[in-house]
Amino acid sequence: MLNMALFGPPGAGKGTQSEKLIAKYGLFHISTGDMLRKEIASGSDLGKKIDEVISAGHLVSDELIMSIIRKTLAENPHEKGILFDGFPRNLSQAALLEDLFDELHLPFFGILSLDVPREELLARIVNRGKTSHRNDDNETVFEERLKEYEEKTLPVARYFEKKGKYHVVSGTGTLDEIFERLVHLIEKK
Ligand code: AP5
Ligand code: MG
Repeated sequence: MLNMALFGPPGAGKGTQSEKLIAKYGLFHISTGDMLRKEIASGSDLGKKIDEVISAGHLVSDELIMSIIRKTLAENPHEKGILFDGFPRNLSQAALLEDLFDELHLPFFGILSLDVPREELLARIVNRGKTSHRNDDNETVFEERLKEYEEKTLPVARYFEKKGKYHVVSGTGTLDEIFERLVHLIEKK
């Protein structure tokens, strides 16, 4: 069983590499961003509130994130493992993640982080914005997302680093090159 979280700033390639990892290891994928966008697409009142937060580049509440995660895990099989993408995003979510795995009596492999220079992140987000219809895929909101990442999410890296559960690979190059680096990290353990 392999439980882990892909980590990195906006545009680092978490979603892209998640697809390859879930295919190789048969993992259950939990992308909190995708789930929030699904709620927005449903047109619900909750979706409208989420849209306001995401369009400003800010983080939605920990309570909402945890309730989505718990509901999803209760409704879906995940016996080969869980791959989180976009979670945990602050220190309180990091603690909630550990509580969750304790409760489930499951091991947590750790955080796999994708390192990509800022200019490349911005170029990827602006490029995707041409077709993605994501309200947060533009330079102004990118700056806000990156600020949130640096202030609230980066401390999560140090938190797991102290526990020996933080691993970084370079997130530039071809999709296959990056994937190979991740697989190497997972399998050398
Ligand atoms: P989320 O959806 O998680 O967005 P993000 O973290 O900002 O990251 P992205 O999805 O934009 O990028 P990615 O790293 O997945 O990269 P991708 O593979 O798409 O969160 C959105 C919002 O939801 C947050 O801002 C927040 O408001 C809210 N939220 C979500 N989770 C939350 C939580 N836990 N708590 C509170 N709020 C939460 O790649 C990006 C682009 O680059 C793509 O076009 C891709 O094709 C391209 N690309 C990928 N790899 C490469 C490569 N190697 N070379 C060239 N291009 C590449
Ligand atoms: Mg993503």
